[in-house]
Amino acid sequence: MTAFRAYRIFEENGKSQGRFVELSLDDLAPGEVVIQAHYSSVNYKDALAATGAGKVIRRFPCVGGIDVSGVVASSADARFKAGDAVLVTGYDMGVAHDGGYAEYVRVPADWVVPLPVDLSLFEAMALGTAGFTAALAIYRLEQNELSPDKGKVLVTGATGGVGSLAIRMLAQLGYHVVALTGKGSAQEYLKSLGASEVLLRDSVDMNSSRPLEKALWAGALDGVGGNTLAWLARTVQQDGAIASYGNAGGVELHTTVFPFILRGVKLLGVDSAATAMPLRKKLWQRLAGDPSAGLRTGLRPHDFEQLAHTVPFAELDGVFPKMIAGETQGRTVVKIAGE
Ligand SMILES: NC(=O)c1ccc[n+]([C@@H]2O[C@H](COP(=O)([O-])OP(=O)(O)OC[C@H]3O[C@@H](n4cnc5c(N)ncnc54)[C@H](OP(=O)(O)O)[C@@H]3O)[C@@H](O)[C@H]2O)c1
Repeated sequence: MTAFRAYRIFEENGKSQGRFVELSLDDLAPGEVVIQAHYSSVNYKDALAATGAGKVIRRFPCVGGIDVSGVVASSADARFKAGDAVLVTGYDMGVAHDGGYAEYVRVPADWVVPLPVDLSLFEAMALGTAGFTAALAIYRLEQNELSPDKGKVLVTGATGGVGSLAIRMLAQLGYHVVALTGKGSAQEYLKSLGASEVLLRDSVDMNSSRPLEKALWAGALDGVGGNTLAWLARTVQQDGAIASYGNAGGVELHTTVFPFILRGVKLLGVDSAATAMPLRKKLWQRLAGDPSAGLRTGLRPHDFEQLAHTVPFAELDGVFPKMIAGETQGRTVVKIAGE
């Protein structure tokens, strides 16, 4: 195989610096499966990695991209053969193992998910880590007995990748979804995704020192953390649960134990990258709308084109600063090659 294009992140003068380079397979981290990439995507973690805004890269240099979908070019593992359509999200991809921003991607076979029937390579990346995380958060809330009859569900970071997809999925499942956003201009977009109500961040006082406030939410999905998560803990109703998956607004959490011991509120951690393969495959089947997944269906968005826009590989690095500034909306798919 000749040289191919990759977006690799280097550490230079103590700073992270991403750029396009030519690589050969021998340059890539080891693995049994070589994938010809068709699509990748941009997640908040990718933007942190490429800009150095967050110290998420654990091994330099590293090809960025925590997601990829494509076709197997070669496999030294019997579970996969050339021509198989596959996807990979999470694990060490794009942070400690060369990731999805490359025409060829090499990964351990244990990380590879066969593309579910009924999901295209584009749709797999319109979902990507964001869609998988939304699905995992909803699944954790369902395990904690959340159902539409229990009350309203709040989604923070509503216009983000995970937020947008979570709103669409929850609305399809019949929930009354309240979207919390910092973008005053996004109300129509959020309603079109299925939000029943839109709450502007500026209109909410999150700085109360009271240990408990009026109970408003049966459940919540939080990608923001910090003050927002502390406020959620104070406003989730009796026996409700919060799925905490992100830190776009802060990493600290100042709370009292009262929501937990006086209202039975549950704080559920969500880590998509390390999700074990059996659950990973089931959730991807559910995302594809496959009833044989053995889980409830209803997560497959019916409008991928509305939820995701596509950028050519060459324009990838223009997306990162916008995402760090909180200016992106929905999902960004990166077209690497193919189709
Ligand atoms: N645990 C996991 O497995 C996992 C998986 C995926 C993502 N994550 C994390 O989840 C978060 C969201 O990821 P994403 O890929 O959906 O990112 P994203 O597309 O950039 O969405 C983040 C959203 O959060 C809101 N936001 C941004 N800055 C904020 C601030 N300073 N204060 C309050 N809200 C702010 C914005 O929405 P509004 O303007 O609408 O408020 C923004 O669109 C990130 O922290 C990411 O690292 C974790």
